[in-house]
Amino acid sequence: MSEQFKRDVDEGFSKSPKSLSSKYFYDEIGDALFVKIMHLPEYYLSRAELEIFEKKSNQIIDGFQIEKGKYFDLIELGAGDGLKTKELLKCLLDQGFDFNYVPIDISQNALDKLEESLKKDLPTLGIRKRQGDYFDILADFNKTNLPKVILFLGSNIGNMTDEIAAQFIYELGANLSANDKLLLGVDLIKDASTVLPAYNDSKGITAAFNLNLLHRINKELGGTFKVDQFSHQPEYSETDGFAKSFLVSLADQEVYIAALEKSFKFQKDEKIATEISRKYNDEIIKGLIKKTDFKVVKKLTDEKNYFANYIFTKS
Ligand code: AVI
Repeated sequence: MSEQFKRDVDEGFSKSPKSLSSKYFYDEIGDALFVKIMHLPEYYLSRAELEIFEKKSNQIIDGFQIEKGKYFDLIELGAGDGLKTKELLKCLLDQGFDFNYVPIDISQNALDKLEESLKKDLPTLGIRKRQGDYFDILADFNKTNLPKVILFLGSNIGNMTDEIAAQFIYELGANLSANDKLLLGVDLIKDASTVLPAYNDSKGITAAFNLNLLHRINKELGGTFKVDQFSHQPEYSETDGFAKSFLVSLADQEVYIAALEKSFKFQKDEKIATEISRKYNDEIIKGLIKKTDFKVVKKLTDEKNYFANYIFTKS
């Protein structure tokens, strides 16, 4: 990771405008900050998606179009805290479906925690956790003839550009068979007065989450960032549905990064683009699946229409 991190920092700070991938938010500190974000009153996304799972798990299951008595794999990309998935798992077990739950994550620690909590709450559930890269593991699963349902929740797809998201969905499809399903959770386009506070909370947790990137560069690459000389800046356009986060330099400054044996100049008000959190509508979703074999089966939303879970089937 460190060599890749070095290369990405070098590349991202050498171009104009500067950028750095949001995938670097998630070290131990970033993971803990993200858990706090999910519980913030302003961060409506988690609550809205949980409401769909609490109230509409039966409709989600109908959308899977799985015959009772037929064994299937329910594969979740990204283990998370399991809160939403638990609602769905409970319903599937109550209705007597036969399935294995397969959470896939890069973090063994996240998987172990999830398994522990599921074993306590749903002791009859069959769990086969898998640590590693999503696509390596999916390719392995595709060798079995069992029907598959993939879960990709939390609007995690929104942190990809549309191009990469379309490619990601295409590759998911390439690892599935006809009639397999994909359940995709996405945040919907809505007004700025709702979206912006979700990315600029009053306690400053999201700001700390974004600024943690600079702490990581200091810690892992011997950077000399004075972190208080940068500020967190969220932006959102209702017209195109892009929420973006930036780190803004508060002064003209030069920062040395020992691992790169290089200094980088930041001008006052210069921005480093750190994250996109895309918001969607039906048309954008149609665009993403245009070049794939997926068709929409169902769309479920929360009462306020903030969030949607789309179910796609592979033809
Ligand atoms: C993980 N991801 C979907 C979050 C989002 O809403 O884009 C990450 C996040 N960034 C700032 N707050 C939360």
